[in-house]
Amino acid sequence: MKTQAYINGQWLDKKSTFSVTNPYDGSDIAQVADCDAEDARQAIKAAHDAFQIWRNFSAGKRSRILKNWCQLQLKNQKELAQLLTTEQGKPLTEAIGEIRYGASFVEWYAEEARRIYGDVIPGHGRDKRITVIKQPIGVVGAITPWNFPSAMITRKVAPALAAGCTVVVKPSDLTPLSALALAELAEEAGFPPGVFNVVTCKNPVAVGEVLTTDPRVKKISFTGSTQVGKLLLKQSADQVKKVSMELGGNAPFIVFEDANVEDAVKGCMASKFRNAGQTCICTNRIFVQESIADEFIKKLSEKIQALKSGNGLETGTEVGPLINEAAIQKTASLLADAVSKGAKITIGGKRQSGLFFQPTLICDVSQKMDIFKTEIFGPVAAVYTFKTEEEVLQMANDTEYGLAAYFYGRDYARIWRVAEGLDYGMVGINTGMISTAVAPFGGVKESGFGREGSKYGIEDYLNIKYMCWEIQ
Ligand code: SIN
Repeated sequence: MKTQAYINGQWLDKKSTFSVTNPYDGSDIAQVADCDAEDARQAIKAAHDAFQIWRNFSAGKRSRILKNWCQLQLKNQKELAQLLTTEQGKPLTEAIGEIRYGASFVEWYAEEARRIYGDVIPGHGRDKRITVIKQPIGVVGAITPWNFPSAMITRKVAPALAAGCTVVVKPSDLTPLSALALAELAEEAGFPPGVFNVVTCKNPVAVGEVLTTDPRVKKISFTGSTQVGKLLLKQSADQVKKVSMELGGNAPFIVFEDANVEDAVKGCMASKFRNAGQTCICTNRIFVQESIADEFIKKLSEKIQALKSGNGLETGTEVGPLINEAAIQKTASLLADAVSKGAKITIGGKRQSGLFFQPTLICDVSQKMDIFKTEIFGPVAAVYTFKTEEEVLQMANDTEYGLAAYFYGRDYARIWRVAEGLDYGMVGINTGMISTAVAPFGGVKESGFGREGSKYGIEDYLNIKYMCWEIQ
């Protein structure tokens, strides 16, 4: 387990450290280097110098190093997953899934590194020729969240590195150990010093400010809350930095009366309780058509009641702890508000010991409650009912967020209408699982912009240059 920062290929000790704790039992796991603004500037300098080298590696050479990194992640998946569960709390099966998911971005972009094609455009005159090339942007600042401490790093860093950019990663102070483990494997994979840097810190403000205001950083890629995203956007605006923002969500999960109810319940459980409800694309509002509401709620209740909470490292655990006290308080207060306005808790609803919150089902929820507008980020399934397609589309789109949406139904004409009518960047149709390296992940509205994964994901790390040739 590495606990020093990783800057310019060196492991850096700091006098000042911060503790990382296990959310399962609050125990101390490690003391990690607490970097400051000066360390962030050093990392940027290293990345800036290394950019001149890395961008000039052939695509094939960059690709081979990325492939080495992917293979090392897969080879060490068990150890990486154990570390991830220990600092984050999610069940080990999910942590293994995250390591594989994270490695799949590295594999995908190792392949895409060789396919950064340009264009030849018919000129605008007989003597004109136009060519288009794509070039790496430069140094990228990647600010990553605690809910996916490994995969959100590889999802940003792999396309950046494939494009020829270099990176400075600032992981969450709650989960820096997975980031440092990735750095150790990057070193082993053969990235030259300075290409991949990790700046760990307790207080994100100073390092975040350096990343967003140092002119050597050409792009910021952030995953986290809309509130912090807006701040980073403002800070980045002065230098007109390129930015990608993967922010909050408020995912609707709609079940139409012609849906296969068993399948819908399965999809709902998967998208609601993944990571104890702590993902940006977790189902946040479940809308069920009135005629099948009783059947759906009964089946959903049975599944929620059967969920096993506990230590993520123990076999059979399905729901881990929440990340911190603030998450517990937020969940409890959303439920209190909903109940005060007429909602009924039918399962759970209470804090358990430590950072555990009971998997919860709440019914008779309505648009006037805070839970309708707020990203819950906890294990609470909130069920609304509706009568018509028009009504549910209005409710589903009644939010400033636009990340993921899901719906179940079989009428193909309605499937098209609803899929097109949902103001979201991603739509799951008869599925609750939409995350994959081969598709463009990202949102609209206040859920952000930019795409991660797929052929589109690398574009965010490339500048387009066009050359106009005049031939005599
Ligand atoms: C997120 O919660 O930000 C990412 C979820 C995913 O990639 O599936």
